[in-house]
Amino acid sequence: MSPGPGAAQTAEGPFIQTLAGQRAGRPPLWLMRQAGRYLPEYREIRGKAQSFLDFCFNPQLATEATLQPIRRFGFDAAILFSDILVVPYALGQEVSFESGEGPSLAPLQTAHDLARLAARLDLGRLAPVFETVERVRASLPRATALIGFCGAPWTVASYMIAGRATSDQHPARLFAYREPELLQRLIDLLVEASVDYLDRQFEAGADAVQIFDSWAGALPAAELARWGLAPVTRLIRDLRLRRPGARIIVFSRVVSSQLLELAGTCGADAIGLDTIVDPDWAAGAVQPIAPVQGNLDPLLLLAGGRGLDTVVDRILAAFAGGPHIFNLGHGILPDTPVENVQQLVRRVRGSG
Ligand code: CP3
Repeated sequence: MSPGPGAAQTAEGPFIQTLAGQRAGRPPLWLMRQAGRYLPEYREIRGKAQSFLDFCFNPQLATEATLQPIRRFGFDAAILFSDILVVPYALGQEVSFESGEGPSLAPLQTAHDLARLAARLDLGRLAPVFETVERVRASLPRATALIGFCGAPWTVASYMIAGRATSDQHPARLFAYREPELLQRLIDLLVEASVDYLDRQFEAGADAVQIFDSWAGALPAAELARWGLAPVTRLIRDLRLRRPGARIIVFSRVVSSQLLELAGTCGADAIGLDTIVDPDWAAGAVQPIAPVQGNLDPLLLLAGGRGLDTVVDRILAAFAGGPHIFNLGHGILPDTPVENVQQLVRRVRGSG
C-alpha cells in the first residue's frame, strides 16, 4: 500500500508482518484502549481540554495521548486517540460526553430523526482527526504501526438509537424488531460513512484499521447475521474497492458461534478474539483461516500477580504455531495498575 500525501513514512515491523500472515518469534503487542485514564500522564493532559470531544479534536493533545503508551511501553502499534462516536457527530447528531457518565447523544427514534442527519459524512468536521493521524505517523518509528479505527455500523447505530451507554443495548435491539427498515437505512448510511472515514485515515498515514463491533454479541444469531456480519463484510469490500491493500482487523465481541463464519467471510486480514474465546479452540479453528489478535481478560490484567503470568503463557503457547498479535479481549480498564501492564509487556517479550 502506498503512503498518503501527508504520511512521512509507513510501518514495516512485526505488527505488519503478522497481518500479512507471517510468524517470526514473539508476537507483536498492543492493547485495546491503551491510551487513557489508567495512565497518569493521560490524566494530566486530559484536563487541558474542556470536553472529551474537544480533546479528540485537538491534534496536539490527541497526538500526545496516542504516543504516551508507545513511549512508556514500546508497544508494536499505536492506536489513534479518538472515539467511535465522532462519526455520528460528523453526520450531524448531537454528541457529548458527560464526565464520569459516558456518551450522551440526541436519541435517534423516528424517520424524522434519521432525515435530519447529513446524507454523507462531513469529512471537514473530522479534519483534526486526520491531522492527528499525520502527526502521529510522522513521530513514530518505522517499526511501530499506526492503527486507525471506526465502530462497526451496528455498534455505532446502537449508541445513536439509545443516546447513551447501556448494559445490553436493549433500546437498539428493540428498535431492530420494531423498525427494521429504518435501521437498515441507518446501517447503510453508516457503512458508507465508515468507508469514507477509514479511507481518509489511510490517506493521512494509518497503516491498518480496526473495526470495533463491541455490541455484536448482544444480538440473536439471525439478527447478528443481518446487522453485524453483513454490514461489516460490505464495509470491508467497499473500502478495498477504493484501497485494495487496506489492512483491516475486525473485532466483534461475544459473537461465539458465528466467529468462524465471520473469519471465513468478512475478508479481514485479522480477527480479534474477545475474552470468552478459548485460545486452544481458536488456534485450531480460527488461526488457520486468518491471523488472530487477543485475548487476555482485562480484569486479569487489573488483578495482576502470578495468575496473570500463567494465563499470558497459556495464550502465547496456544497461538505459537501461527500469526498472532497479543492483545486484550476487550479494552483496558481505568483502574489497571501501570506496573501490571509493565509485567505483561515483559512476559510477552520473554524478559520477565
Ligand atoms: O487507546 C485507544 O484505544 C484509542 C482510543 C479509543 C477511545 N474509545 C477513547 C476513549 C478507542 C479505540 C475507543 C473506542 C470506543 N469508544 C468503543 C469501542 C471499543 C470498546 O471499548 O468497546 C466504544 C463502544 C466507544 C464509546 C465510548 N467512548 C464509551 C461507551 C465511552 C464511555 C466509557 C468509558 O470508557 O469511559 C467512551 C469514552 C472514552 N473513549 C474515553 C476514552 C479514553 C474516556 C473518556 C475520558 O477520558 O474522559
